[in-house]
Amino acid sequence: MNFEIKKDDSSEKIINTLRENGLAVCYGYLENVEDIKAECEKIIEDTDEDDYLFGKAARIGSVYDNIESNPALGNFFSQEWMFQIFQQYTGKIVNFNEIFVQHDYRNDRGISRNGVLHFDRISTFKYMLYLTDVEKDCGALSVIPGTHLDGSYLRAEARKNAQNEYDKVKNWPLIDYPELGYSEEDIIPVCGKAGTLIIFDTDLFHRGGLIENDKSRLMIRSHLRG
Ligand SMILES: [Fe+2]
Repeated sequence: MNFEIKKDDSSEKIINTLRENGLAVCYGYLENVEDIKAECEKIIEDTDEDDYLFGKAARIGSVYDNIESNPALGNFFSQEWMFQIFQQYTGKIVNFNEIFVQHDYRNDRGISRNGVLHFDRISTFKYMLYLTDVEKDCGALSVIPGTHLDGSYLRAEARKNAQNEYDKVKNWPLIDYPELGYSEEDIIPVCGKAGTLIIFDTDLFHRGGLIENDKSRLMIRSHLRG
């Protein structure tokens, strides 16, 4: 399976890659992340260490909330093609958008929920931009490509079984659904330099934020829903 896309690929190519793999990765999408990174570093600096076990996570509102206060990241995530790809992939119009800045730098407070292989309980379409070089031991997003279809089915069933009680939706494939036969060995880290853009459907089995000692990851992502 090949989930790599190039910056000048057609929307058809991007959509096909997403449909087949549940993710599409453009290595080196941005050559220079410095302006976005500077805005994100400031946001993280102003964020308290809270209940995010791997470090700090800041929820900063929609792209429109940030256009003036954080123009580099606001402009980046307001690119028209990002909304069009969402629309083509999901068949829906965007009516929810939220941006998160995340700095993963701790491994001494246990495993955060996003560190366990999962599908999101609420299906979301995400654009994730690495702002530091990310190797396997730097909290890389790690996935089992092609599992978004299983995830879509499991999410719908799990929500039904939980009668839509969010916390009761079982979303850990290796733990809650061992009969599927997936294992740790199937999980692939998506490594990439700062400027790598990852597009993914959160029905895909994924995890991230697991760092080795003295490693870290700074990234930003935009969440879209219909
Ligand atoms: Fe997730």
